[in-house]
Amino acid sequence: MCGIVGYVGRHAATPVLLGGLRRLEYRGYDSAGLSVQDGKELLTLRAVGKVSRLADKVRAEWPEELQTRRVVGIAHTRWATHGAPTEANAHPHADASGRIRLVHNGIIENYRAIRAKLEAKGHVFASETDTEAVARLVGEYYKGDLRKAVIAALRQVEGAYGIAVISADEPGRIIVARKGSPLVIGVGEGECLIASDPSALISHTRRVIYLDDGDVALVTADSVDITDLNHAPMDRDVAELEFEPGAVEKGGYDHFMLKEIHEQPESVRNALRGRLDLLNGTAVLSGMGTGARELLDLQRIVMVGCGTSLHAGMVGDFAFEELAALPAEVQPAAEFRYRNPLVDGRDLVVAISQSGETADTLAAVREAKDKGAMIMGLVNVVGSTIARETGRGVYLHAGPEISVASTKAFTGQVAVLLLMALKLGRGRRLSRERGLALAAEIARLPELIEAVLRQDAAIAKVAESMAKHEHAFFLGRGPMHPVALEGALKLKEISYIHAEGYHAAELKHGPIALLTPGMPVVVLANRSPVVDKTLGNAEECKARGARIIAIVTEGGPVAAIADDVIQIPDCDPLVATIPAAVALQLLAYHVARLRGCPIDQPRNLAKSVTVE
Ligand code: F6R
Repeated sequence: MCGIVGYVGRHAATPVLLGGLRRLEYRGYDSAGLSVQDGKELLTLRAVGKVSRLADKVRAEWPEELQTRRVVGIAHTRWATHGAPTEANAHPHADASGRIRLVHNGIIENYRAIRAKLEAKGHVFASETDTEAVARLVGEYYKGDLRKAVIAALRQVEGAYGIAVISADEPGRIIVARKGSPLVIGVGEGECLIASDPSALISHTRRVIYLDDGDVALVTADSVDITDLNHAPMDRDVAELEFEPGAVEKGGYDHFMLKEIHEQPESVRNALRGRLDLLNGTAVLSGMGTGARELLDLQRIVMVGCGTSLHAGMVGDFAFEELAALPAEVQPAAEFRYRNPLVDGRDLVVAISQSGETADTLAAVREAKDKGAMIMGLVNVVGSTIARETGRGVYLHAGPEISVASTKAFTGQVAVLLLMALKLGRGRRLSRERGLALAAEIARLPELIEAVLRQDAAIAKVAESMAKHEHAFFLGRGPMHPVALEGALKLKEISYIHAEGYHAAELKHGPIALLTPGMPVVVLANRSPVVDKTLGNAEECKARGARIIAIVTEGGPVAAIADDVIQIPDCDPLVATIPAAVALQLLAYHVARLRGCPIDQPRNLAKSVTVE
C-alpha cells in the first residue's frame, strides 16, 4: 500500500528519495510524489502511475543542479483510498500557505469533520483526500515550531497514520509521527532516512529506530528526538536490520516471485534452524514462552490471519488437532473482533502475518488481548507492529518478501506451525516414536522443496495449456484443502484467471455445474488416508471433460485419468502441504508469465494491507 520515504543529510535528497520509492514499488501504488526543500522554498512534483514517470518529471522540470543539491525531502507512493489516483490527490499535500508539505499512510477517520471546520474558515481544498485535512490543520497551528504544530494537529485526528512533514521555514528538519501505520528511522553517518518499510533504507544504513504508536520525532541529519503527543521525551532503542541489501534485489531472476519461490529451501531451513530437536522428537521454540504447565492447561488454539496467512493457519488447524489433540480453529482476522469472540486466558491466539502490519490482524490481536487470551505472533518482518504488540512469538526468518504474491512466507508459516504442533503435541499426548518420525520428516523439508523446484521446466510445460483458459478449479482434502485454496489464490492474483479452491468432496454440491470440457482442474492427490476418495472426485470431473492436473506422490498410484502429473516426494501428509504448495506457486508463476502479466505487482493489490 502507500509508502513513505524521507531524507535529511549529507547527500542530495532527490536521488535518495526516488531510489527509496523504487524500493517500495512492490507494495502496490498508483501515483507518486516528492517535495524537497531548496533554500527557503519547497518544491513539489507528483505524477500518476509509476515512480519512473515521477523520475522523468524530475529530470524534465528540475535543473540538474537542484537534483544534486543537498536538500531535505519527503516522498510518497499512494494507493488510492479517498479519491481517484490523480495528480491532485497524490502526496505530498500542502497547507494553505503552501509552505508546509506532508505525506501520510493510513486513514484519517474524522477527516470530514476537520475538512468542514476548515472550509468554514475559508480553506479551499485541492484534493479529495483525508490527508489534505491534516496538512491544512498543521498549517493552522503553525507559529514557527513545526513539531508543536504537528502535535497540536494530531491531537485533533482520529484514525491511523504514519506521517512525515517538512516546512519551508525549518530547513534541515523532518517531523515524523505514527499511530497504527509503521514508520522506521534509519540512522546513518551524518544522515537520517525515514521509511514506512526498512527495505527503502537498507542500502544506506542498517541501524534503525522503530517508532511506536503515539511517537513524534524531530529528525535532523545527526539527531533523532522523540516525544509523545504530550511533549514528554521518549527513549527508543536503535536496532540492527537483519537482512542484507541483496535480499531486496532480483539477483538474476526475472521476477521477485520466482526468486522467492526458489529461495524456499533456504528460507524454510532458516525457519527450522535451531528449532528441531531430532533426539527427542520435539521442537524448541523459546519465543512461544509456553512452559509445561501452560501447555497442559491450554484449552484451545485460535489462529487469525488474512489471505495466504489464513490458509497457512488452516493447515495448522489440522496439525494442532492431529498432533496435539488440541481443539484448534482459524478465523479470518477481519471477522474476529466483530463477532465478540469467545476467548479467555486458557486460549492461545496466534496472529499469523508475513508483514506484521495487516490492519485486520492487528485489530484481532488487540481484541484478543482485551479479552485476556494468551497471544502469540507468527510474523516474518522483524520489529513489525504485530511482532511488537504480541510480545511473544516466533519469527519466520524468511527474509524480505518483495513480490506481492506471498510464497516463502506461506511455507515458512506452515513449517513453524508444524513445529508448534509438534512441541505442543509432545508436551501433551504425542508419543516419542511419532514425534521422532515427524521431526525427521520436517527436517527433510528443504530437500523436499528442492525436488519440486527441479521440476520447474516440466511445470512450465503444464502451464502452457492452463494459460489458455479463463477458469480453473483446485481440489484437495484434509490439510491439502487449504493448499488448494492457496493454489487458487496464487493463480487468480497473478494470472487473473478465475480460480476456485474447493474441498474435493464439495464440488458436486454445486460448483461442478461450472465444469466445461477442457477446464483445468488441479487435484491434490498425494499419499494420504483419503487419496482414493480424492481420485474418485477427480474421476467425476474427468467424466465431464475436465483436464486433470494431478499433484501426486512419487512412486504412488499415479492417477491414470490425469492429463498432467506433477510429483512430490513421498512424505508425511502434513509435511507434504509444503512441497505441494511450492508446485502450485510455480504453476501460477508460469501461467502468469505466459499470459504476460505484471507478476510482482498485480493490479489492485498491495503488499501489506494497512487499512481494514
Ligand atoms: C496473497 C497475499 C495476501 C496476504 C494477506 C495477509 O498472496 O499476499 O493474501 O497473505 O494480505 O498479509 P500478511 O501476511 O502480511 O498479514
